[in-house]
Amino acid sequence: MSGPPAGPAAGAVTRRHLLAVGDLGTDGIGQILRLADSFAEVNARPIPKVPALRGRTVASLFFEDSTRTRLSFETAAKRLSADTMAFSAGSSSLSKGESLRDTAQTVTAMGVDCVVVRHRSAGVAVQLSRWLDAAVVNAGDGRHEHPTQALLDCYTISRRLGSIEGRHVAIVGDIAHSRVARSLVAALRMLDAAVTLVAPATLLPPAVDGWGVGVSSRIDDVLARADVVYLLRLQRERQERALLPSLREFHERFGLSAERARRLADHAIVMHPGPMNRGVEIGAEVPEMACTTIAEQVANGVSVRMAVLFWLLGAQPGTASTADVAAAPAAEGASPAGVGGG
Ligand code: MLT
Repeated sequence: MSGPPAGPAAGAVTRRHLLAVGDLGTDGIGQILRLADSFAEVNARPIPKVPALRGRTVASLFFEDSTRTRLSFETAAKRLSADTMAFSAGSSSLSKGESLRDTAQTVTAMGVDCVVVRHRSAGVAVQLSRWLDAAVVNAGDGRHEHPTQALLDCYTISRRLGSIEGRHVAIVGDIAHSRVARSLVAALRMLDAAVTLVAPATLLPPAVDGWGVGVSSRIDDVLARADVVYLLRLQRERQERALLPSLREFHERFGLSAERARRLADHAIVMHPGPMNRGVEIGAEVPEMACTTIAEQVANGVSVRMAVLFWLLGAQPGTASTADVAAAPAAEGASPAGVGGG
């Protein structure tokens, strides 16, 4: 087993960000998925905590509602022994007219190493990365990108199916308004999976021709050859006009009912990023079927976000390895392996 990685000195400025999944490249994705394996092992311990980011502070700036992503990042930071700061747009000085830039700079002036941001406008994470002297993680910006969701989904596919390359993933539902679909397609294409988008024409993005994926308007045509069926909710908060005749018709034409789920190959899995709407994109009883990975995606999300935070803050480029993290002691108070201390 190798010794602790050469991490940054205390107080060192970090300049790496995670803004879009494409920024990682295939190597970066592979590195994070391998780190996630080590953190999954940490999360299975009786005390799921390592001191890898002790002394670092992670702030979550969520300007849009979230349950799982926000809690997942906060849990990940705490399990790495980082200090956490949570910001809620509704109870902040934004309501008194302060700008996004001034609010974000005020938060980071308190000594923040990493900002996890979610915002309804595409491009906010990129903008913050230019303004702030802290690492920025995009936790969802409008319909643009949600890179950690794509990483946790790739991690879940790889754990369940053993591989991603050559797999056929059908992404079904509201692709047009989905940042999850954009990041996931980018990641799957980098990892050489085949993707088919399944949606009515009104829920497909305008420039889908450039995505390098197949397109279908009939879910029944793709079920038999799918290794993964990935369901998306109708994102009404981003829809500017009525795009569907009715929810019932959408369910009948595109929803994964239990009957359709039973037609999948034995090894195939059904995924959903949540929040899900039972009876619309997913049959009411499908979440409890053995083929679904919804709870695993949530659990894997913590390991993957630990990997992302460690990759950004706890290791210099090229030094993070599986052995480094696995070697980190479980209990608080042990030596800070994982940050280059001793
Ligand atoms: C998102 O933040 O985009 C979610 O994870 C998926 C959704 O809201 O439907």
